Amino acid sequence: MPNEKIALFTIFGGTGDLAQRKLYPSLFKLYQKGYLQEHFAVIGTARRPWTDDHYHEVISDSLADLDADQKIVDQFASHFYYQSHDVTDAEHYLTLKKLSEKLDAQYGLQGNRIFYLAMAPNFFGTIAQHLRSENMLTDNGFNRVIIEKPFGHDYASAEELNNQLTATFNEDQIYRIDHYLGKEMIQNISAIRFGNNIWESLWNNRYISNVQVTLSEKLGVEERAVYYDNSGALRDMVQNHILQILSLLTMDQPVEFTEQDIDVEKVKALRSIRPLKPEEVADNFVRGQYADNGDVKAYRQEDKISPDSNTDTFVAGKVMIDNFRWSGVPFYVRTGKRLADKFTRIDIVFKRPIVNIFNHDDVRANDDDATSLEPNVLTINVEPTEGFELRMNAKAVGQGFATTPVKLNYAHDSEATANSPEAYERLLHDALNGDATNFTHWQELASSWKFVDVIQQYWDEHTPEFPNYCPGSMGPDASDELLQKDGHQWVYKN
Ligand code: BG6
Repeated sequence: MPNEKIALFTIFGGTGDLAQRKLYPSLFKLYQKGYLQEHFAVIGTARRPWTDDHYHEVISDSLADLDADQKIVDQFASHFYYQSHDVTDAEHYLTLKKLSEKLDAQYGLQGNRIFYLAMAPNFFGTIAQHLRSENMLTDNGFNRVIIEKPFGHDYASAEELNNQLTATFNEDQIYRIDHYLGKEMIQNISAIRFGNNIWESLWNNRYISNVQVTLSEKLGVEERAVYYDNSGALRDMVQNHILQILSLLTMDQPVEFTEQDIDVEKVKALRSIRPLKPEEVADNFVRGQYADNGDVKAYRQEDKISPDSNTDTFVAGKVMIDNFRWSGVPFYVRTGKRLADKFTRIDIVFKRPIVNIFNHDDVRANDDDATSLEPNVLTINVEPTEGFELRMNAKAVGQGFATTPVKLNYAHDSEATANSPEAYERLLHDALNGDATNFTHWQELASSWKFVDVIQQYWDEHTPEFPNYCPGSMGPDASDELLQKDGHQWVYKN
């Protein structure tokens, strides 16, 4: 039986979509696996006046897809309590405090508190402030706060939010969610790099030509139009997920595989990203917005989106890292809504052999000059397939001597993948363990926002020609041209 974790969760935004889609199922899986047993309780709060019974029904409904034994579902749901709560009203925190203390005694929770802020970010500061002023933190156990994205809208607002939080919590009590860091294959980046001499010894500008990170989505904005229209793809995906992935791909080897050592290396990597000057933005970053294609509506026709919205639903960019390891290697990143398919992949494109001895007509090429040999590509498939692919040149079968690219392929088997925890389950488990390795730390965020702010500001000041790509494509042509002008191309093409 796993080591039981003991804690009281207080979920602000307990009636919301995130709680129902992600948090309750993840907590339930931790319960099924025995990480949560008798000594846990959950208070769900939101403004609505729900009863505990109704809350239990909602919890039970949120687990419907898991096909679990109803008796276990009911046992699990009995640990949940609902408290109607206005986050701006100090009185309400006193009620919450009393309930917390009662549950602490009832379930033997040893003063361990996890506050989960799963609601609009403009309330994070108020909640943190009240948790302190109404003495909601305990002295005898741990106090941790888990924060959902977005963490700020730009550097200034992120800093302000951080100041509000750190007035109540220390940095080591703050768990900022980036759910990509909970994904199996994103965590695997470190295993591949630091567990295999063949990769780590080639992981630099002498052998790597360029790196490509693609987070592609097939769906549009769905129900999140209001949030998304204020955010756009750059803030929604690049500032957080993509830059976090880049930091894991580019950081130096940490002294030990610990939260502190990894954070030190990630911060160094992010600070080494070459900042763009406003006049360099247009050459290095491409934005897009989807048109309609008869089957799906254009972004500007979506519900709650203004017909002249200039929000980016696609971004492609070139990021340079100015350090000894990466100088000269472009990192191309792209993400967007309504693209060809839903997948995430990372392509590490190696330099070609310097001389192609198989074809005498070929020029003697240095690094990236074209020889007819294809470059080796290591692909990390993050989703939906989880695994790796390595493209190599081999002899084509048959008479004569010609080379042809072949692929070595590994994918986690479907049974292992089905049993592997979902990102939120993994992250909740880490937070219960006090392990913030797979959460975003403030210095990382600060560097990411500073990089992204320059691009966003330039875009805000210049009107784009939108819409500029078709649903089902891989974004505007300018995204391909971004690589072509460096003599490269996207490994994944539609
Ligand atoms: C979220 C973004 O952070 O990530 C969404 O806000 C996006 O817009 C989602 O759809 C993608 O996550 P995943 O895990 O489905 O790739």
